[in-house]
Amino acid sequence: MMIPFDPNRPFNALPGLPPGVDLETKSILKACVGARAKLAALKEAAALIPNQDVLINSIPLREAKDSSAIENIVTTNDKLFRFANADTHQADIATKETLRYRTALLRGFESLKSGRPLTTNTAIEVCRAIKDVDLDLRRTSGTNLRNQNGRVIYTPPEGEDVLRDKMTDWERFIHDESDLDPLIKMAIAHYQFEAIHPFPDGNGRTGRVLNILFLIEKGLLDLPILYLSRFINDRRSDYYKLLLEVTTEQAWEPWILYMLNAVEDMATWTRGKIWAIKALMHDTVRYVQVALPKVYKRELVELLFVQPYVRIGDLVEAGLGTRKTAAGHLNQLIAAGVLREERDGRDKLFINIRFFELLMNDSNEFAPFPAVPDGK
Ligand SMILES: Nc1ncnc2c1ncn2[C@@H]1O[C@H](COP(=O)(O)OP(=O)(O)O)[C@@H](O)[C@H]1O
Ligand SMILES: [Mg+2]
Repeated sequence: MMIPFDPNRPFNALPGLPPGVDLETKSILKACVGARAKLAALKEAAALIPNQDVLINSIPLREAKDSSAIENIVTTNDKLFRFANADTHQADIATKETLRYRTALLRGFESLKSGRPLTTNTAIEVCRAIKDVDLDLRRTSGTNLRNQNGRVIYTPPEGEDVLRDKMTDWERFIHDESDLDPLIKMAIAHYQFEAIHPFPDGNGRTGRVLNILFLIEKGLLDLPILYLSRFINDRRSDYYKLLLEVTTEQAWEPWILYMLNAVEDMATWTRGKIWAIKALMHDTVRYVQVALPKVYKRELVELLFVQPYVRIGDLVEAGLGTRKTAAGHLNQLIAAGVLREERDGRDKLFINIRFFELLMNDSNEFAPFPAVPDGK
């Protein structure tokens, strides 16, 4: 059945869920099996890292960076890590906005852990946190999506009641008891959320946060560490094209396959990264134990992974000594080739060299530690 569609008119005819087409074609089911296996392996790998803050503080920053980049909000990894655990008032607007995406994702995660289900209100809270404004479902008209040439390609539904009803339908669908695989559901729900476009702005980012929260709610992940936006940012034009073709041609299969491939690829990438992080933590502990036995403390090395950009004050706060001792330890870690130093206004930043490289690069190799002289 064709649904009449005019890009310039509010698409109030947006059908409810589930879509009235075959959602379990052979290709979809095949892609789904692959994605589920990779996601299960990721979940398992994450559980093997002794301190989960190591992952929670790092992977969501990369997700935030790419998800924001899809919306042309661009910052650097250095700025993100520099301000990740610090006062952000010195940061530029794009860095602040990207860090707020990270915060929104983590807050959503906390909210799920405290037992609150994913609802329209979750979406509102996530969007508020990202945009830092007290927004609500759209009340005014005039929101539309344009292509690069400025031509309107899609006008989302209008009318507060219409939006509320469509969001209620979305909410019912994500929690219904059907045996549709959660990954297929996630793909469908993401299209629907974007097509409803409930907010004046922030819909793309909020929708991508909701994807991760949904996987956690369904028990497919324990931590918000799937880095899906990397895949989407790398294949941005397909993302837009496929979303639009669901609307214009009910082309669900290619869209669902795209999202399943995203999950499979990024689960594989993230799992590889986690194994490498685990190996690096292990090697760092061993190296510091031997090279700097008087400095070594398990908690100190762990802190360098929980906060790859660390300040003297962070060590003091973690109970690792006075400012003087902490500064002394950090300087010895620099001399031993574990950390490097950067200026940070009047303060100093100490960067876990290999960990930062590992987080930034696709490669999972890291440089060996210097040889420890005999007798040390
Ligand atoms: N044809 C389309 N139909 C529905 N949603 C779309 C379409 N094309 C793009 N989108 C979604 O709209 C998002 C952009 O909306 P916007 O509210 O500006 O999000 P953000 O502020 O996070 O930038 C894209 O990231 C994408 O998810
Ligand atoms: Mg926008």
